[in-house]
Amino acid sequence: MATVLAFANQKGGVGKTTSAINVAAALGLMGRRVLLVDADPQGNCTGGVGLSKTDTATLYDVLVGSLPLSAVVRQTPFANLWAVPATMDLAGAELEIAARDHRESLLSAALLPVSSAFDYVIIDCPPSLGLITLNALVCADFVVVPMQCEYFALEGLSQLSYTIRSVKRMYNPRLEILGVILTMFDGRLNLSHQVAREIRRHFEGKVFKNAVPRSVRLSEAPSHGKPICYYDRYSKGGIAYQEIALELTRRLEKGPRR
Ligand SMILES: Nc1ncnc2c1ncn2[C@@H]1O[C@H](COP(=O)(O)OP(=O)(O)OP(=O)(O)O)[C@@H](O)[C@H]1O
Ligand SMILES: [Mg+2]
Repeated sequence: MATVLAFANQKGGVGKTTSAINVAAALGLMGRRVLLVDADPQGNCTGGVGLSKTDTATLYDVLVGSLPLSAVVRQTPFANLWAVPATMDLAGAELEIAARDHRESLLSAALLPVSSAFDYVIIDCPPSLGLITLNALVCADFVVVPMQCEYFALEGLSQLSYTIRSVKRMYNPRLEILGVILTMFDGRLNLSHQVAREIRRHFEGKVFKNAVPRSVRLSEAPSHGKPICYYDRYSKGGIAYQEIALELTRRLEKGPRR
């Protein structure tokens, strides 16, 4: 079965999608079979791996309709990388599934039949702790928390920790935080260093060794529909995400299969 990773942080714009896309693509380049699930109505992941947002069945049709997940999985142009697209209609899904039985485990049930086809499933969560994020946490083995190296980074963290603890207690006892990715790190700023130190202290040993630097190349890549390792592999951001993917496999697999 695939290891399922939810990239979650209810704070907006902290680098969840950038991290999900680029870690997924880097794992694909390392020979792992990866399914990237866009669970955000903004559909940024979908566009970021070059998939069209029109004329296509999406995660909405799986959660609200009755399509099997396998019917919405798209192959991307990138090595070992498949994706489940999302569009704006997913925003309505929370309301539409609110009254359903087992509304928190719809994604989990949908993933089950396809899970063995992949080594990793990476879910890009929306910036909220609503029902869609809950579905992601219920089916995840681990949470990866991207955090921006900015002053308010740690704000809201207690809510996220509380949600993770509740999901663990009520639905998914195996759920753990795998790690924290420091994003948009600017080595020239004292503030970046201070915040990074504070986050490392708070998460004792869980923070990935490489911080992702603030990089224009990383913000440009999605407009070309490419992960950084296909857009500018040896840029600082590209190298950081490859190192993070490698560290992730070291944490999860017995010895790297480099
Ligand atoms: N390391 C980086 N350097 C420069 N820009 C970055 C970096 N990481 C992310 N960005 C840019 O910051 C913005 C927010 O990033 P991203 O969309 O990944 O965050 P998010 O947490 O997924 O946002 P949301 O909460 O809206 O889903 C985007 O425009 C992205 O291109
Ligand atoms: Mg996002």
